[in-house]
Amino acid sequence: MESIWSKTAEVTAMPSLADNLETEVAVIGGGMAGILIAYFLQQEGKKVIVFEASRVGSGQTKNTTAKISSSHNLIYHKLIRDCGIEKARQYALANQKAIKAYQNLIDKYQIPCHFQELPSYLYSVTRSDSLEAEVKAAQKLGIHAEFTTQTELPFPVAGAAKFYGQAQFHPLEFLDKMIKELTIYENTKVKSVEGQEIVTDSYVIHAEQIVFATHYPFINVPGYYFMRMHQERSYVLALENAVQLDGMYLGIDKENSFSYRNYEDLLLIGDSGHRTGENKVGGCYQKLWEEASKYWPGSRVSASWSAQDCMTLDGIPYIGQYSSQTPDWYVATGFGKWGMTSSMVSAMLISDLIMKRENPFMEVFSPQRFHLSASAKNVVTDGYKAAKGILYENLKIPKENIEELPLSHGGIVEYEGKKAGVYKNAEGEVFIVDTRCPHLGCQLEWNPDELSWDCPCHGSRFDYKGNLIDNPAQENLNTE
Ligand SMILES: Cc1cc2nc3c(=O)[nH]c(=O)nc-3n(C[C@H](O)[C@H](O)[C@H](O)COP(=O)(O)OP(=O)(O)OC[C@H]3O[C@@H](n4cnc5c(N)ncnc54)[C@H](O)[C@@H]3O)c2cc1C
Ligand code: FES
Repeated sequence: MESIWSKTAEVTAMPSLADNLETEVAVIGGGMAGILIAYFLQQEGKKVIVFEASRVGSGQTKNTTAKISSSHNLIYHKLIRDCGIEKARQYALANQKAIKAYQNLIDKYQIPCHFQELPSYLYSVTRSDSLEAEVKAAQKLGIHAEFTTQTELPFPVAGAAKFYGQAQFHPLEFLDKMIKELTIYENTKVKSVEGQEIVTDSYVIHAEQIVFATHYPFINVPGYYFMRMHQERSYVLALENAVQLDGMYLGIDKENSFSYRNYEDLLLIGDSGHRTGENKVGGCYQKLWEEASKYWPGSRVSASWSAQDCMTLDGIPYIGQYSSQTPDWYVATGFGKWGMTSSMVSAMLISDLIMKRENPFMEVFSPQRFHLSASAKNVVTDGYKAAKGILYENLKIPKENIEELPLSHGGIVEYEGKKAGVYKNAEGEVFIVDTRCPHLGCQLEWNPDELSWDCPCHGSRFDYKGNLIDNPAQENLNTE
């Protein structure tokens, strides 16, 4: 499954690391966050090197829908209520500034990346009160927003919150330009970090400062991000022959809520999401297609893809010092569904921290914060899910065996007296893996939409052969 971005742009290849190195700043991870952080620091005159396990942009960034927006679902009303007006204002201003920063970079370098300024809409088909409250909250924080019932969607809405001055673009076309002046080593996976020493498969790097921009941080202790973040997957279809909209749309209803934007003459419809590791039944792409074909029966799917987001306890990213014990480590993670502006906020904030400058947004994004009122419910849910994932591994013995598993299906079966994860392809070939997650030992679940083994605890994923797809796990699964 290839996204429309990967299909239409190629990011220039970079060499692999071939020697031990010393640098002022090492950035681990070459997604949108890592590249912007490296760029900002290099502009400050720092010697910066990016280490990327695979290819630049090949993580979640190549599978985004790339809306550059400060309208992050119903966030502002909640932020004012749970964290107070001052922190809510910091969040709003940081994201507004991030939109402007994209525009400035694209203008400065004349980057041909399909950048387009558009309004974005949050909509509901059932109720308008929460949208009206969101508009009032956004206006209070200085954002240009208004409530409306008029949209270009092909169904009536109860209301919509329209945010002005938002944008969309092609993320890989943008990244390809941004990496031109940077030092980047691709296919260079960082295995471990101790103090100032970064260790890859074959080499050691000494860095005065280290930035973790790996989507989910892979060092468990210190930081303990695994105790305060889970991942959620969502799905996208690109449709030919659908419609051209006047803006970007995001549904806020609990059921049957979808996001829409155009890329050239294609309509991208997204969502159908779930917590990673909780898609036993499948049908996520089908659900998107059923929705799309209701309104655009003559349309055709030209691409489909999926990705996942790191969800924090209070819905605010963790951007800043990695932990109180590691003054020279920094982290940019927990972007929720809003990694484009959050990556830019990370670049602005972390470059200020490393340059020892005051930053007005430091407090709200601080990874060391804890807002009890905003986090309490999620602390309980995440803790419960993690405990359940681990206990299940220890207690439950499956009844099925390999012979009973139908063709083109995967599942957990009894094999040689033990539990095993098995995928049987259409030809009857069998692939057996150990479904104990190498991160912290939770039980993996089969994802029939993507033929992958997914972890409900913190969201690591593996293909049916056991190869690692998404972190925080660092290793492949044990196989037969
Ligand atoms: C379906 C979907 C649609 C979305 N749409 C939007 C949107 O419209 N607007 C928006 O703002 N956000 C959106 N997002 C969120 C956004 O795409 C992500 O938050 C963002 O791309 C994350 O960027 P990143 O750099 O943090 O992570 P990534 O792009 O995943 O980059 C992390 C990089 O780190 C590398 N890495 C990991 N471990 C190591 C290691 N040990 N050594 C070296 N390298 C390593 C990986 O290979 C990867 O390239 C969407 C997300 C999804 C799921
Ligand atoms: S991702 Fe943490 S245990 Fe699987």
